Amino acid sequence: MNKRKLRFGMFGTGNFGPFFAKYINEVAEVVAICDPSPAARTRFLDSTQLKVQAFESYRELLDSVDLDAVALTGPNHTHKDIAVQAAKTGLHVFCEKAMALSVQDCWEMVRACEAAKVRLMVGQKRRLRPPWARMIQLRDVLGPVVAISTVGYFQGEFQGWWTRKAESGGVLDCSGVHELEWMRAMCGDVAAVSAISAPQIDSRFDFADSIHVSLRYRSRAIGFLGVSLSYPLKKYREVYGAEVVCRDGGMRCVSSIQHADVYWRLRGENVEHHERFEETGDVPIGAEEALRREMREFVRWIEEGTEPTLTWEQGLRTVEIIEAAHRSALESGQW
Ligand SMILES: NC(=O)c1ccc[n+]([C@@H]2O[C@H](COP(=O)([O-])OP(=O)(O)OC[C@H]3O[C@@H](n4cnc5c(N)ncnc54)[C@H](O)[C@@H]3O)[C@@H](O)[C@H]2O)c1
Repeated sequence: MNKRKLRFGMFGTGNFGPFFAKYINEVAEVVAICDPSPAARTRFLDSTQLKVQAFESYRELLDSVDLDAVALTGPNHTHKDIAVQAAKTGLHVFCEKAMALSVQDCWEMVRACEAAKVRLMVGQKRRLRPPWARMIQLRDVLGPVVAISTVGYFQGEFQGWWTRKAESGGVLDCSGVHELEWMRAMCGDVAAVSAISAPQIDSRFDFADSIHVSLRYRSRAIGFLGVSLSYPLKKYREVYGAEVVCRDGGMRCVSSIQHADVYWRLRGENVEHHERFEETGDVPIGAEEALRREMREFVRWIEEGTEPTLTWEQGLRTVEIIEAAHRSALESGQW
């Protein structure tokens, strides 16, 4: 007998929602969507060709459709309220990054889900993407991380809610969420954060559009993350390679539009190892595999109780770092 598939409601059908629906439908079933924008709802239905119920308000959807889980693919500031309400309705929650705008909001989501005994996962998938997963694995060869840096200086095409701090959260919520999570996967928990923002360049944003974050990990590793949303020389897919100094060697990742190259070498070795990761389809390198895996693991977590790679914890820890970095940049003033 065929097992009944989990029924998902999707909240937010802008750019990411229609793209993500495919991965939900591989292991479960999207049965309803919600978006306050009629144009976004129509685009979703046209582009996915799914025959699902469409709602304007999330409460209307939660009140009228029989669901097992929700996928929160709307603006960052909408995640907390919908997650809490969904949990109170007894639904499992898959939430896109950034988890919420503040650590306090993240805890509210966690408590609501724990009280309702439902699962909560945040889609911060960088550690699942093959080039970055390979670098995590290479620590077994190269030893623990001593210093790590990753830079995301690019020209963003952010519009609307992304440009407003009250809705996106700020510069690191626009870009850097996945990277901070991957850096934590490489180095462990963060002990101290300090940051500075350069003067704002792009008037679209109501916050400083760059930030330069220095991190100290409990392992004593040192980290650096630089983000600029207004750097004209690179596109998003060309940034966020990494340079990593390890106790017994080093590794780096060079990210480009079509592929990512991981180079590594043990101290004293004559040759540098080179591994290339090619892009498949029209999504960034390894993203397809990561999206598939995170959703498959979320569904298995609900159906079989199998512990997934990602839970809410990675989402919450990342918001902790983001909040500390934004606060530090604000307190240091702009240079
Ligand atoms: N994991 C990833 O790699 C990845 C990639 C892109 C975006 N995202 C995340 O997905 C989310 C959406 O990003 P996007 O690029 O699709 O943004 P978007 O602006 O293209 O779409 C957001 C949509 O949400 C709708 N919306 C606004 N308020 C809502 C509400 N209360 N309920 C339901 N829908 C609402 C908007 O009308 C819009 O159609 C963000 O949290 C973003 O960070 C994740």
